[in-house]
Amino acid sequence: MYCSVLSATVSGMEMIPVQVEADVSDGMPQFTMVGYVSAQVKEAQDRVRTALKNMGISLPPKRITINLSPADVRKEGSRFDLPIAAGVLMTLGRIPPGSLRKTMVLGELGLDGHVQEISGVFPAAAKARELGCTTLLVPAGNAAEGGLVGGLHVVGIQNLQELLNYCCEGKMPSLPSIENQKKEDGKEPDFSEVQGQTAARRAALIAAAGFHNLLMLGPPGSGKSMIARRIPTIMPPMSEEEQMEVTRIYSIAGMLAKGEGVRRERPFRAPHHTMTPQALAGGGKQPSPGEITLAHRGVLFLDELPEMTRTTIEILRQPLEEHRIVISRVSGNYVFPASFLMVAAMNPCPCGFYPDLSRCTCAPGDISRYLSRVSQPFLDRMDLCVQVEALSYEDLHGEERCESSAKMREKATAAAEIQAARYRQESIHFNSELKAGQIEKYCILEKAAEELLEDAFRRLRLSARSYHGIIRTARTIADLDGAVKIGVPHISEAICFRSADKSIWRI
Ligand SMILES: Nc1ncnc2c1ncn2[C@@H]1O[C@H](COP(=O)(O)OP(=O)(O)OP(=O)(O)O)[C@@H](O)[C@H]1O
Ligand SMILES: [Mg+2]
Ligand SMILES: [Zn+2]
Repeated sequence: MYCSVLSATVSGMEMIPVQVEADVSDGMPQFTMVGYVSAQVKEAQDRVRTALKNMGISLPPKRITINLSPADVRKEGSRFDLPIAAGVLMTLGRIPPGSLRKTMVLGELGLDGHVQEISGVFPAAAKARELGCTTLLVPAGNAAEGGLVGGLHVVGIQNLQELLNYCCEGKMPSLPSIENQKKEDGKEPDFSEVQGQTAARRAALIAAAGFHNLLMLGPPGSGKSMIARRIPTIMPPMSEEEQMEVTRIYSIAGMLAKGEGVRRERPFRAPHHTMTPQALAGGGKQPSPGEITLAHRGVLFLDELPEMTRTTIEILRQPLEEHRIVISRVSGNYVFPASFLMVAAMNPCPCGFYPDLSRCTCAPGDISRYLSRVSQPFLDRMDLCVQVEALSYEDLHGEERCESSAKMREKATAAAEIQAARYRQESIHFNSELKAGQIEKYCILEKAAEELLEDAFRRLRLSARSYHGIIRTARTIADLDGAVKIGVPHISEAICFRSADKSIWRI
């Protein structure tokens, strides 16, 4: 007796369909699994056998063979438990052979027969629909995620008994009601809570409007972390396509909360500076998304930048330029998207108070050693650099409420719409993505602005990369201004933000 159940495996960001074939024949009683399976998948046989036994179904003294095809794709994880159990039950005649036609089955089994949640259900659902399936059979906890892809009948089950009921009697399992997971933890962070810091707020707005990387330098407690955390609240809202992309990433990473719908908010990731290079870039034998991919379309915040190891910092160079990361394994190259806004924060010296010489207690040698942990090529990639000053008493107790996130987001969104219209023929969305060749076409400078830039180029000995960086940033500043041509005020503000690091790194 031979049966087959459709399932799927994750490979990088892709889902690959897998046929789980079960065969029962006379012969030496044994349970074998073949088809390029990892050790973890092999363990499925024990979980399936025990789970069935605990339901009162013992396997007959026959030879049971499970084959996962195609044979050239390595299968990882525990999502095959459920399709394997279904295949075995079918070959034993416990469920009708036709009951899982046009159905994709995924799920992990506990020893007592309950079905556990798995990662990657959202892209699996998309694949199922693409393959012409009508039904997706998944753990109950993943049903909402499967339902994000329309046009599929999603059946969420809690245990093997419900699988039997569904297949034999067509009885739909009753889903546990999903509470609407509204954020109850009070207020969302808002820019109106940040007092003073005019320059840093302005830099944050420009960064959010054009996706320009931002470096904040300043003494402890001046509000760097506070500002960084609020940047996603002023970025233009994600398009539907971007929401799907981000949801897919979080599904594959197994990070979609139970019952959570499509991700609508831009991600904010703030990995600790002690993270491993692998946690940042993504990795593992079967690579999974790292922090830079989890920050895709949102903010990657690196606090205490000089505390990070050189290797970890340098990993960022390629994705910052290419907006993706390629991870090579024996089994092939895996490409993960990594288009994020990088926001970094640091103290300018070990004690934190340089260049305020009345408070800084560091020796010049200590300061330069500290600063040299951040390499020049890395600094070159930070289009906006801003010094966040210690807050004065007047600032902290100012009566005036500062501009809210909603107001700032309005401005950033208007600038983003101008950019989207300008680049509708191109594959880019934001000014920061402009290639050298496109800059000439889209960034027209007024004569005086051009002269100002030429002068700055010589005087500040800019690199070609920062020269282009200034023009890109000035384009965003002009867009925030609603100006078609880039003028003197736009260029000079961009130069200011581009060269703020020069005064610090000079020593
Ligand atoms: N500009 C500000 N407006 C209002 N509150 C502020 C401001 N700056 C700092 N604070 C208060 O100080 C706390 C610490 O600020 P934050 O953590 O952002 O400082 P930081 O610059 O990141 O410091 P560190 O260098 O130590 O990381 C905030 O939680 C907030 O309560
Ligand atoms: Mg901080
Ligand atoms: Zn110091």
